[in-house]
Amino acid sequence: LNYNVKRDRRFILEILFNGLRRLEYRGYDSAGISIDSSSSSDPNGQLSFSPLVFRQEGNIDSLVKSVYKDVASIKLNLEELFCVHAGIAHTRWATHGEPSPKNSHPQTSGAGNEFLVVHNGVITNYEVLKETLTRHGFNFESDTDTEVIPKLAKYVFDKASEEDDQSVTFSLVVLEVMRHLEGAYALIFKSHHYPNELIACKRGSPLLLGVKELSEDMHSGAPFLDLKFISENRHPKELFLSSDASAIVEHTKKVLVIEDGEVVHLKDGGVSILKFENEKGICDNALSRPSSVQRALSFLEMEVEQINKGKYEHYMQKEIHEQPESLTTTMRGRLKRGGSTKAKTVLLGGLKDHIKSIRRSRRIVFIGCGTSYNAALAARPIIEELSGVPVTMEIASDLVDRQGPIYREDTAVFVSQSGETADTLLALEYALENGALCVGITNTVGSAIARNTHCGIHINAGCEIGVASTKAYTSQIVVMAMLALAIGDDAISSQARREAIIDGLFDLPNKVREVLKLDQEMKELAKLLIAEQSLLVFGRGYNFATALEGALKVKEVSLMHSEGMLAGEMKHGPLALVDENLPIIVIATRDACFSKQQSVIQQLHARKGRLIVVCSKGDVAAVCPGGSSSCRVIEVPQVEDCLQPVVNIIPLQLLAYHLTVLRGYNVDQPRNLAKSVTTQ
Ligand code: G6P
Repeated sequence: LNYNVKRDRRFILEILFNGLRRLEYRGYDSAGISIDSSSSSDPNGQLSFSPLVFRQEGNIDSLVKSVYKDVASIKLNLEELFCVHAGIAHTRWATHGEPSPKNSHPQTSGAGNEFLVVHNGVITNYEVLKETLTRHGFNFESDTDTEVIPKLAKYVFDKASEEDDQSVTFSLVVLEVMRHLEGAYALIFKSHHYPNELIACKRGSPLLLGVKELSEDMHSGAPFLDLKFISENRHPKELFLSSDASAIVEHTKKVLVIEDGEVVHLKDGGVSILKFENEKGICDNALSRPSSVQRALSFLEMEVEQINKGKYEHYMQKEIHEQPESLTTTMRGRLKRGGSTKAKTVLLGGLKDHIKSIRRSRRIVFIGCGTSYNAALAARPIIEELSGVPVTMEIASDLVDRQGPIYREDTAVFVSQSGETADTLLALEYALENGALCVGITNTVGSAIARNTHCGIHINAGCEIGVASTKAYTSQIVVMAMLALAIGDDAISSQARREAIIDGLFDLPNKVREVLKLDQEMKELAKLLIAEQSLLVFGRGYNFATALEGALKVKEVSLMHSEGMLAGEMKHGPLALVDENLPIIVIATRDACFSKQQSVIQQLHARKGRLIVVCSKGDVAAVCPGGSSSCRVIEVPQVEDCLQPVVNIIPLQLLAYHLTVLRGYNVDQPRNLAKSVTTQ
């Protein structure tokens, strides 16, 4: 932060705390912060600072309380500053070491906090580094992989100082540290030796620089970040580094997406960027070159209101209820009907140069994790039907584990809400190496998947903050249905089907609005199921994915054991579980599989199964073998079969939400989970 007005430290703390609150969905088991302690004037009138560190187990509020407790006990005074201030903060999702203050970030180089680091990612060679540093006399306090980083920085700095190397800048220390690190990271360094400076760098994990107040290029009208004036500070700015846009957007919408290997140096309110070029080289100027003098900034589309809960109690609830709008945004400008030709078409700008290649590919491989995988599974049948290209499904980690075959003639489609899931990124790297045409479907503009694929489609569902994905799932399905239309052949024989799907897409937000009216009914059902241990969900065809996704929602937030199953497999094992106690949801809306699902219901009924059936409106008699008293029915509006999973998942999202709230769990931050899993 660069002040031209006096601000007290409470202002700095609040900016960092608010940023952490915005990022809390990425990790929430512990948190930490470092700002500078009281300033004192030396004889030349210069202010001197030394970093204070606060770390706390639990959520951000626990950290806030502990910091203000220290304020009260005068360990930290809140006196006013009239200068530059560089603070860092972190919210953690534990990978190495349990949640505890010592394992929270910032991790430090030791007493005196000479070097401090916050880290998103995993350092895979930390054990080797730890051994070496221990041999050099460093004592480790935490169980984290991160602690090697500040210690390594201190080692590099001390060595340069011993050699009386006056030229060792903060950037050069960090460049040398990077040379030794393996794994994925976005890092911010703060140091007692370089007051009012921060260094950030990244490889693999996301990192954004937000810039408030900047020099505009008057000729092009495009905003640029001027990298020339690092020390002259001609253009005072507030600068924000963050893993994602939600922590930045309330301050500025102008951001620079930091690239892998870049080392960003913030000093006196100015910015310079070096590029780490040679992992095997030595740390001298040959290792780095300045990035170009000016860099074009991106403009965040996100609105602050999007990341607030508005009238809702929880983000998950808000995101479920805003699906009519998010689906509308997903389709905006992409569907056309009417006009002079009356033709109904789909336009996917991000794919326009690649549609023919996708059509000609030998197969389409969908790759994703969690909910994104389920969305692709829901879209698989319509893509096969309209394009005739075989579609296979891959869970990203499994593809990488098996090193499964991927060919040059394949189109590999990477589906990811965040665009930064580590497993999906590794699978992308693997598919690129194997020469496949790589397509990204993400919700995050500028994400690693969006940047590293050959082409792609943004789902434009708006920021999703609830850890359990809801609106991104339905938007992903809609995008993939549009993909099916775009790559499908336009033979006369398929014309009516294509037009019915396009009409269905236009009408989908209304149908979703209608199905959301089941909210109270699903709350009542949740009350009935509140004490259950287990829940099964059966689906098939388009709605196999609904069964998997419905069960995933219930288990991840309400912590109730729940399994989604292919109804066609029921007789081959799951039937053994059926008795009069176990609740079973069967998805039996009208499509080509309907009569098979009727038979599944019959068989479950014959074994006294406790049935809850999701069916098309007006179908109660057709799905309840013993009349409406024999099972509980959830009636949903019928839509075109390939779009039915969008409608059918909504009552299950509502059920998961209400079950969680009624069971007293944290719906937006479920135990042990994180929204963006940037580690393997
Ligand atoms: C995590 C989240 C899930 C999400 C999955 C894939 O497990 O908790 O909600 O579905 O990652 O994330 P992505 O961002 O790649 O869609």
